[in-house]
Amino acid sequence: MLRFTLLWLLVFLFASISSSSARPAPYAMRISCGARQNIRTPPTYTRWYKDFAYTGGIPANATAPSHITPPLKTLRYFPLSEGPENCYIINRVPKGHYSVFAEALVFLLDGSVSICFHSTGRGDPTIISIEILQIDEKAYYFGPEWGRGVILKTTSRLTCGTSKPKFDEDYSGDHWGGDRFWHPIRTFGKNVDAPRSTESGIKKASTVPNFYPEALYQSAVVSTDSKPDLAYTMDVDPNKNYSIWLHFAEIDATITSAGKRVFDVLINGGTVFENVDVVGMSGDRYTALVLNTTVALSGRTLTITLHPKKGNHAILTAIEVFQVIVAESKTSPEEVRALQALKKSLGLPNRFGWNGDPCVPKEHPWSGADCHFDKSGGKWFIDGLGLGNQGLRGSLPNEISKLHHLQSINLSGNSIHGVIPSSLGTVTSLETLDLSYNFLNGSIPESLGKLTALRRLNLNGNSLSGRVPSALGGRLLNGASFNFTDNHGLCGIPGLPKCGPHLSAGAKVGIAFAVFLSLVLLVICSICWWKRRQNILRAQQIAAASRSAPYAKARTQSSHDIQMSRNPSRGRTASENGPSLLS
Ligand SMILES: *[C@@H]1O[C@H](CO)[C@@H](O)[C@H](O)[C@H]1NC(C)=O
Ligand SMILES: *[C@@H]1O[C@H](CO)[C@@H](O)[C@H](O)[C@H]1NC(C)=O
Ligand SMILES: *[C@@H]1O[C@H](CO)[C@@H](O)[C@H](O)[C@H]1NC(C)=O
Ligand SMILES: *[C@@H]1O[C@H](CO)[C@@H](O)[C@H](O)[C@H]1NC(C)=O
Ligand SMILES: *[C@@H]1O[C@H](CO)[C@@H](O)[C@H](O)[C@H]1NC(C)=O
Ligand SMILES: *[C@@H]1O[C@H](CO)[C@@H](O)[C@H](O)[C@H]1NC(C)=O
Repeated sequence: MLRFTLLWLLVFLFASISSSSARPAPYAMRISCGARQNIRTPPTYTRWYKDFAYTGGIPANATAPSHITPPLKTLRYFPLSEGPENCYIINRVPKGHYSVFAEALVFLLDGSVSICFHSTGRGDPTIISIEILQIDEKAYYFGPEWGRGVILKTTSRLTCGTSKPKFDEDYSGDHWGGDRFWHPIRTFGKNVDAPRSTESGIKKASTVPNFYPEALYQSAVVSTDSKPDLAYTMDVDPNKNYSIWLHFAEIDATITSAGKRVFDVLINGGTVFENVDVVGMSGDRYTALVLNTTVALSGRTLTITLHPKKGNHAILTAIEVFQVIVAESKTSPEEVRALQALKKSLGLPNRFGWNGDPCVPKEHPWSGADCHFDKSGGKWFIDGLGLGNQGLRGSLPNEISKLHHLQSINLSGNSIHGVIPSSLGTVTSLETLDLSYNFLNGSIPESLGKLTALRRLNLNGNSLSGRVPSALGGRLLNGASFNFTDNHGLCGIPGLPKCGPHLSAGAKVGIAFAVFLSLVLLVICSICWWKRRQNILRAQQIAAASRSAPYAKARTQSSHDIQMSRNPSRGRTASENGPSLLS
């Protein structure tokens, strides 16, 4: 029996848009995971999109009624056979950074959001819904650390003195506040504090940047005589930084003015706010006051204590606790694109989990990719590809050369066909290239000769042919280990046959052209020789005509020759050829 972990994931998007008065409606994307149709849920008739085409995984019906509203009935889960990492990729989302509540890895590529799930081996990651909501650009500003690269992950969001769970939307909250889920907590403990509520309106509630719903402040807990300190304890992950937001409004009719109720706020025993006077600080009764602080916690519990100094009782409206996560550095986008091209070209199966970022989180890099962190650039690079004996098909894309930092490629023992991309010659850091036992054909690109760091080259067991680049042959002398055996016909370096009859198509064309050229030259030469011969003859005829005795013998001889040679040229008349012996 599969047991689903029900995850509720809410992503707030801090958009980097300027806050002008006429700002557009905030970006909102709600996805009902596993749903076959877009649906609307009561009471607000919010639209949830089906998640078709956003991700892999398997849709299922929720087995238990979800404890949250809206009541979504489907979910999606990611069994390990689908790979260790699965992502929702949602495009065309404004750039920004996030706070998340749920166990999920969230990171942002340009204009898109990727929400990824890692299988940890303890049950399959499962998700019911995803909301991506744009909120005010300064929302939850907590100090200098806030900004790009920081993620606020919701640990807890409590509305005190009430028993009803609420979303901002139920509270008629401003859309620029997002749609926060407020978990109800009626009291912190039996008989130690008491709920309070009011119907009166609350001032200064829905203001920039957080736009808390006014109704949030209409209930609270107040400590009682039995225990003046108001204390709330929750479990947290140790050794993390937390951003804590406390909400107050004086809704107790017995407190009529400033100075009547004053208390200190302590976190794990340390004072973080002294002499909090809600009426004094907010300016009035029935007026919202929000205080925030960031603390580093080493233990596993977080205790918030309100210690009265005047008035004996403390009051608290709501609590928000976020874990402050410094976003991890990512892999260079160019290398991510190159790996995605490789994934597509080699038809990498799901079990490799090539989704999300190749090197982040660093505990779960993509299988087969070796990651290296470049401290100076603050980015991850791929320095090795180990995909030997993985049953891969397809061909090697040119993009593989965009992985400039590769020192080793091992794709041995697959069924890769096609040619070795000549662009591989630009990956100058390459030391090991093992493409043995595939179906690679064509010749070894000349560019591989430029890989001066190459120490090990295994191309054996392919269908390669033609001349091995001579630069590679030269390298052999320096102790490099190259294997070219078991191919269709490689030649040209020591240990391989001399390049003879096995010529490349180019060489064949070259030779044919050379032969043709020689023939043409031969014909031209013959013609020249013949012409020259005729000229000599003519000169001799002229000499003969002068009847010079010493030439008589020669003349007789030549006249014979002339007869022979002249016979074919019947086109010429004697007059053209000048005075003739034969005429
Ligand atoms: C979920 O329930 C619907 C009807 O309620 C049913 O048609 C569908 O086959 C179920 N899906 C799964 C994956 O069990
Ligand atoms: C949070 O507190 C800091 C100082 O403690 C303050 O500068 C900041 O404005 C507060 N943030 C909000 C949104 O009120
Ligand atoms: C907590 O914050 C401090 C100061 O801002 C920082 O030096 C430290 O690394 C942070 N700790 C964690 C676990 O993020
Ligand atoms: C490449 O991978 C295969 C299979 O994993 C292994 O047998 C071979 O030794 C590796 N080649 C190199 C050069 O390490
Ligand atoms: C290599 O093999 C492919 C088929 O896998 C073929 O289309 C191509 O023409 C071959 N190339 C060479 C140079 O032999
Ligand atoms: C080269 O590969 C062949 C198999 O194709 C193998 O028999 C031979 O031992 C290898 N040579 C070296 C030097 O590794």
